Amino acid sequence: MKILGTVRHWLFLGSGFAASLTIAQGVSAEEMPVYSSEATAQPEVATHGMVTSRTTLATQAGLDILKDGGNAVDAAVTVGFALAVTCPQAGNLGGGGFMLIHDAKAGETVAIDYREKAPLAATRDMFLDEEGKVDKELSRYSHLSAGVPGTVAGLALALDKYGTISLKEALAPAIELAEDGFPVNQDLYASLVLGKERLSGSPEAMEMFYHEDGTPYQVGETLRMPELAKTLRMIAKDGPAAFYQGPIGEALVADMEEHNGIITHEDLEKYRPSIREPVEGNYRGYDIISMPPPSSGGIHIIQIMNILEGFDLHAMGSGSARTVNTMAEAMKYAYADRSKHLGDSDFEPVPVDWLLSKDYAAEIRAKIDPDKSTPSSEILPGEAPHEGIDTTNFGVMDEYGNAVVNTYTINFSFGSKILVPGMGFFLNNEMDDFSAKPGVPNAFGLIGGEFNAIESEKRMLSSMSPTLVMKDGRPFLISGSRGGSLIITATLQVLLNVIDHDMNVAEAVSAPRMHHQWLPDILMLERGFSPDTIEILEGMGHEVKVGRAMGTTNSIMFKDGIFYGAGDPRNPDTAALGY
Ligand code: GLY
Repeated sequence: MKILGTVRHWLFLGSGFAASLTIAQGVSAEEMPVYSSEATAQPEVATHGMVTSRTTLATQAGLDILKDGGNAVDAAVTVGFALAVTCPQAGNLGGGGFMLIHDAKAGETVAIDYREKAPLAATRDMFLDEEGKVDKELSRYSHLSAGVPGTVAGLALALDKYGTISLKEALAPAIELAEDGFPVNQDLYASLVLGKERLSGSPEAMEMFYHEDGTPYQVGETLRMPELAKTLRMIAKDGPAAFYQGPIGEALVADMEEHNGIITHEDLEKYRPSIREPVEGNYRGYDIISMPPPSSGGIHIIQIMNILEGFDLHAMGSGSARTVNTMAEAMKYAYADRSKHLGDSDFEPVPVDWLLSKDYAAEIRAKIDPDKSTPSSEILPGEAPHEGIDTTNFGVMDEYGNAVVNTYTINFSFGSKILVPGMGFFLNNEMDDFSAKPGVPNAFGLIGGEFNAIESEKRMLSSMSPTLVMKDGRPFLISGSRGGSLIITATLQVLLNVIDHDMNVAEAVSAPRMHHQWLPDILMLERGFSPDTIEILEGMGHEVKVGRAMGTTNSIMFKDGIFYGAGDPRNPDTAALGY
């Protein structure tokens, strides 16, 4: 049973507790929205607004902003900075991301692209060794692995154009959390255990996150980050200039010069986020709005939905072998197209209209047999007519009808594992999302083509997919995920679970996930699919691997005047809080 909300209504879930709450609050049972007691997982509910992110503390910081009258953008930017403190393995100042903003008053949705860029001195073959092989150490863990960070500029731009509070106000909770400290959660502790070997190369990181005997801060121990607090305070005082033209950038560039890195003052000064038009599609009467290139996420979510629209997934059943196979087939064609046609559209002509067309989806659909797997070797990227693990997502819906969904990242957990000296934040290793050698898979096994080759000032292709579903002109559902190549399919499945399988948002997020990315030709399943389903899938021709959890989503749904939210049970501290 979960209880939320204090201002106008108490909401309740389940039964039994309702009567005492009704009496306590003087609200009749008829006035209380009740979520179906038939649901297998219960969402958080609220009437005024809702925030969801990977840590409860960041979520709470955003919620406080909403309660003080701030809008969804104010809350989202506050969450973004608070995650840079409470989720240092993915939340960041040294990375980049994408934010989708639905502005209710203007009746429009915009996409802010604050993805990192390749430095000016980057070259196509910068990660190839003398034998022409990709040097993964260089592309993932060296100063060369970092793209020019976009987070500070991106969050500041969102606030300036669409927010109502000052940057100083948005940064205040983050500064307080960094300065006073916060209890380490299970998620951060696990990342510190897993990341220790790599992080031990950095004395500063060891001092920040580990005790003298080398053990990480334990769950519940207070972690203070005074250097990060100082950095955040500089941004609060001087805005993004403190990062791109001031002392933070100076420390970053000095560290680059000392370690054969190539990010210069000119790179930082030239960095600008872009406001882009989102990609749009429709699926069974819902409008799907998502991130355009340089993310592949939005295009492929819509492409896969276009293909699936011709199948009656509802009748085929959630989690059935036919449904899983049909989804896997659609995914294979989409990821094959990703390998050839996607890249930074400022540099390459991405055939967006063709990839999103219902006609092209119908062509693919005609090749899909719901009862049989097509080997990936028989699937090639389509021919267009002439003409990226530790990411984190968060979202906010407010009472004014605005919605924000944001995914940002430093790529791996703790990025390149390089802390900018004295500044308390990690640099991304996003350069690994380029195709260091077209045709050779990146860290997520994703194959990229010429369109995603490294080029000075280009943005590396991403899978980040902050997505908004509109119904009758109003935000209905927001979702997004972490997880590199898994982001697209995890986000997609939340959408399908709600639209096709009538799940509430908590059920949609919790349901076991599947994933296929064309290459390798493996159908990945989370635990929770029945052995007989797996047997049928193998009989259809799939090589099935049942294993780790896939993606961590954050989702909010708005229906009949009520906000329903769900963090993702795959990460212990994700939260959705409303009021
Ligand atoms: N670094 C993961 C992505 O952008 O897709």
